[in-house]
Amino acid sequence: MVTVRPLRDDEMRLYLEIHERAIRGLAASHYSQDDIEGWVVPATDENLRRLLLNADREIRFVAELDGAPVGIGALVLEKPELRAVYVAPEGARRGCGSALVHAIERTARDNAVTRLRLHASLNAERFYAALGYEVLERAEVVLPNGHSMAVVRMGKVLGRT
Ligand SMILES: CC(C)(COP(=O)(O)OP(=O)(O)OC[C@H]1O[C@@H](n2cnc3c(N)ncnc32)[C@H](O)[C@@H]1OP(=O)(O)O)[C@@H](O)C(=O)NCCC(=O)NCCS
Repeated sequence: MVTVRPLRDDEMRLYLEIHERAIRGLAASHYSQDDIEGWVVPATDENLRRLLLNADREIRFVAELDGAPVGIGALVLEKPELRAVYVAPEGARRGCGSALVHAIERTARDNAVTRLRLHASLNAERFYAALGYEVLERAEVVLPNGHSMAVVRMGKVLGRT
């Protein structure tokens, strides 16, 4: 069974671990090793502190599969942007990613947000398309290691339900 709940403040390391395992396990088919290394955020004290500080006021979620945390997600209401959805390989294709997107969309709607945008990795384009997101443009983002990575900007108008 898949459930989604808020991320707790003592779970920043878990958040980065799931983020890293999802990237290494599920995105390597579409990206170079340099891309992967630039995309992963190592769980250093500095990165954990920055994550906890949460300057962008991300609303963060955890997806659990039969009680075990396997996915994370994040929403930034001010943009508004679906900021992150990552599922570790052992939880893939079991509906965890969709459950995170639904929780994010529900929270957005509850806060009077009517459309969401996101930067999808190439490997995630079909996932977001299956959830009703449309391609706006293909783009590159510059990673902290200076490498640039191909992404797809996608968007969705949120319905009432
Ligand atoms: C993209 C990701 C979040 C999907 O998570 P997930 O829990 O496996 O997704 P779901 O099980 O909810 O999939 C829902 C539907 O999306 C589509 N889908 C999901 N992954 C897909 C893939 N790799 N290729 C094609 N379609 C895919 C399918 O239609 C799927 O339904 P189905 O399994 O019944 O065919 C996960 O693969 C991931 O974390 N990838 C690495 C990190 C990443 O790129 N995150 C996105 C950053 S923008």
